[in-house]
Amino acid sequence: MKKVIIDCDPGIDDAMAILLAQRSKDLEILGITTVHGNADIDHTTANTLHLKHVFAIDAPVHQGAGLPLNAVELPYPTFVHGDDGMADTGEVPGDAIADSTEAEHFIVDTIRANPHEITIIALGRLTNLARALAIAPELATLTKEVVIMGGAFGENQFRGNVSPCAEANIYGDPDAADAVCLAAWQKTFVGLDVTMLCVVDPQRQARIRHSGDAACQFIGRISEFYNSFYASIGYTAGFPMHDASAVAYAIAPELFRVRTGPVRVVTNGIAKGETILNREPAREYQEDHWSDIPAANVCVDIDAIRVLDLYEHTILGA
Ligand code: RIB
Ligand code: CA
Repeated sequence: MKKVIIDCDPGIDDAMAILLAQRSKDLEILGITTVHGNADIDHTTANTLHLKHVFAIDAPVHQGAGLPLNAVELPYPTFVHGDDGMADTGEVPGDAIADSTEAEHFIVDTIRANPHEITIIALGRLTNLARALAIAPELATLTKEVVIMGGAFGENQFRGNVSPCAEANIYGDPDAADAVCLAAWQKTFVGLDVTMLCVVDPQRQARIRHSGDAACQFIGRISEFYNSFYASIGYTAGFPMHDASAVAYAIAPELFRVRTGPVRVVTNGIAKGETILNREPAREYQEDHWSDIPAANVCVDIDAIRVLDLYEHTILGA
């Protein structure tokens, strides 16, 4: 089993991803760390603790960063995930308490204790990872892999989702994302280029919502809010499965096709949050921000049906 730490900002699609990881026979969750993003840190932590309860997860939950590295708070996407980040169902009690160790210290301690064994699956802004790296730069070589739901690389005709060029998790803390790109860990971006191809259609959503399983029913209920948002912006065939696609990569990377090369992130200006791959064989440019940057994998294609089937069959235990 692959040992994983999930860093997340639940978030409706984060909930789908966490259930997939919990029910996969190929992954062992060692801990879940929370970050600001789809809601403020108090809500994303309360939501994670609720998911731990509903999904019967043993692993601890550690609260992480409440602000990006530049300490400027951005508005939260309440129109996508609800005021509470979890579809405003009123089901999240909010009185559970996270483990007392902060996320960045949990990440550092766990990776140091399990060198070359841990995969980090990052489903939100990359603030916790950047802070962990600042404490312990050696994490980059001690971590088995980092799988990041983030980025928009201009493949498959998809653009950004918070600007024409930026994806939300990267835009939400571009300094952290660039710091993660500069570090020498094995890393893979599962960006909008492939997650937008992975659409949960109404039939699949109905099978999950009306299953006999309480965790799947919860996912089905909160997904209705998410589906309404996507319908409101013209996606009538269903909703894209962002975060669970990154978990699917950790389980079955053969369902994805990647390009490799160094990636950098634009940290300010109108292109803030844009992810730029200098694909291999990397060309050298006069103004050169890519030389000597360790290569990343960037997903450019996905076997969407098999990823969706993997998700559905795993969470339903079918
Ligand atoms: O752009 C999609 C990503 O932003 C997902 O991780 C979603 O949960 C939000 O954090
Ligand atoms: Ca997320």
